Amino acid sequence: MKFKSQRVAYLFFATSLLLFTLQIVFGFIMGFAHMGFDVLHDYIPFNAARASHLNLLVVWLLSGFMGATYYIVPEESDREIYSEKLAVVQWAALVIVAVIAIIGFHMNWWEGRKFLEIPRPLDYLVVLDILLFLFNVGMTVWNAKRFTTTVSVLLLGLVSAAFLYLPGMITFESQVLDSYFRWWVVHLWVEGVWELIMGGILAFLLIKLTGVDREVIEKWLYVIVGFTFLSGILGTGHHYYFIGAPEYWLLVGGVFGALEPLAFLGMALYAVTMARRGGMRHPNRIALFWTVGCGVMSFVGAGFLGFAHTLPQVNLWTHGTIVTAMHGHMAFWGAYAMLVLAIISYAMPQMTGRKLFTGWLPEWAFWTSNVGMIGMTGAFAVAGIAQVYMERKIGMDFLAVQEAIEVHFLGLVLAAALLSLGVGMFIWNFIQYGLPNDEAVTGA
Ligand code: HEM
Ligand code: HEM
Ligand SMILES: [Fe+2]
Repeated sequence: MKFKSQRVAYLFFATSLLLFTLQIVFGFIMGFAHMGFDVLHDYIPFNAARASHLNLLVVWLLSGFMGATYYIVPEESDREIYSEKLAVVQWAALVIVAVIAIIGFHMNWWEGRKFLEIPRPLDYLVVLDILLFLFNVGMTVWNAKRFTTTVSVLLLGLVSAAFLYLPGMITFESQVLDSYFRWWVVHLWVEGVWELIMGGILAFLLIKLTGVDREVIEKWLYVIVGFTFLSGILGTGHHYYFIGAPEYWLLVGGVFGALEPLAFLGMALYAVTMARRGGMRHPNRIALFWTVGCGVMSFVGAGFLGFAHTLPQVNLWTHGTIVTAMHGHMAFWGAYAMLVLAIISYAMPQMTGRKLFTGWLPEWAFWTSNVGMIGMTGAFAVAGIAQVYMERKIGMDFLAVQEAIEVHFLGLVLAAALLSLGVGMFIWNFIQYGLPNDEAVTGA
């Protein structure tokens, strides 16, 4: 690494992997519950497990994005982080909020509203924490010698993500309005501003790992940002079909939702083309695997499987079934989990000076986790489609259907075990790297 303060990223990366592990534990609890073994029900009811699974996911990804930002911004801007101490304070605040939220869910302290379950008082802490983070990054960039396109796209994503947290904090009497604005957070995050964060981090990784000129990589970044806004904003309509919003959303959501995969196709072509152009010669091959894998798998999970249920004619049947979980898993994995694992894979040798990216461990971590996630997506797909036919087409009772599809969750749990093995290997590799090392600082 160029600057000593970049080491603070390690704290965020380690936190990410710890919370990721916890997220997986709650995943298994739900997987077994779906199989009919809801043995922990008295202590961890399904709703608490689900809220924990989802919020841990969001927090470990945000922690990964923050770590990535603290690593990338000094390098791109050619200066130390404005205040490393503030970064540590802000990290601690994030951890405190996460711990209180998870304990709270188990004591029935939550708001419902999938993904936004964190109770209101904690929301204010989240806002404060994000403001501290943005202040620190903003001050770093403010007086910098350089301001690159990569950093501006990353910052635009981070600042917009902060603003878009606010619509989720308004209180409505009407269920329709509440739902309507919940999507401004949930949809406009993952299919809008987080894509900018993704574009920024991918561009940084591609510049470093492929050797292709920055001008070329950053030029295509603009094209992706363009596609994202063009389709993603009005694409919000694919959540407005059946929630009581006006009927024109059927058309708007249908058309713009169907265009959304283009941005992810762009992301996949971008990563593959740049990697090929660079000749895949970088010694840290595994970081390039995760980078290109992120582009490709995000297209499969978000683009392809998102398209599978985005048209109103299809969504009429699939809405609110396990089909959504099929898409949600692969989309989050491909676009955002792999992105965080990519930047960790790239940054760890740079921060520690150790080159532990060769050998079987990191490579097996990559393949095992990905094959596991593909298996999980398949299991959710089979369960989801069976559910749609029995419950919606034939009209069987909801609970009778849940029992009928229990068997498919055995497949889910087996595939999830494979994913967990891969993630375990990744984490073992991470631990082997050890802590950041001052000797690894190369200077500007
Ligand atoms: C051991 C691994 C995992 C298992 C067994 C697991 C299992 C589950 C189950 C059973 C549900 C609830 C489905 C329902 O509503 O009935 C769920 C929800 C969810 N999980 Fe996982 N999961 C795992 C890992 C992951 C990972 C790695 C991610 C993201 C990268 C993820 C993202 C999600 C999302 C986004 C939802 C909500 C889906 C929706 O809105 O319908 N999970 N998971
Ligand atoms: C990385 C990007 C994406 C992620 C992480 C993602 C994740 C998710 C998750 C977790 C849900 C469930 C949300 C909830 O019920 O609260 C969902 C719903 C949905 N997604 Fe995505 N998604 C992505 C991109 C896309 C794209 C590009 C499309 C369209 C082509 C799409 C189409 C849909 C649709 C139609 C639903 C509604 C399902 C229903 O409730 O009927 N998604 N997505
Ligand atoms: Fe969406």
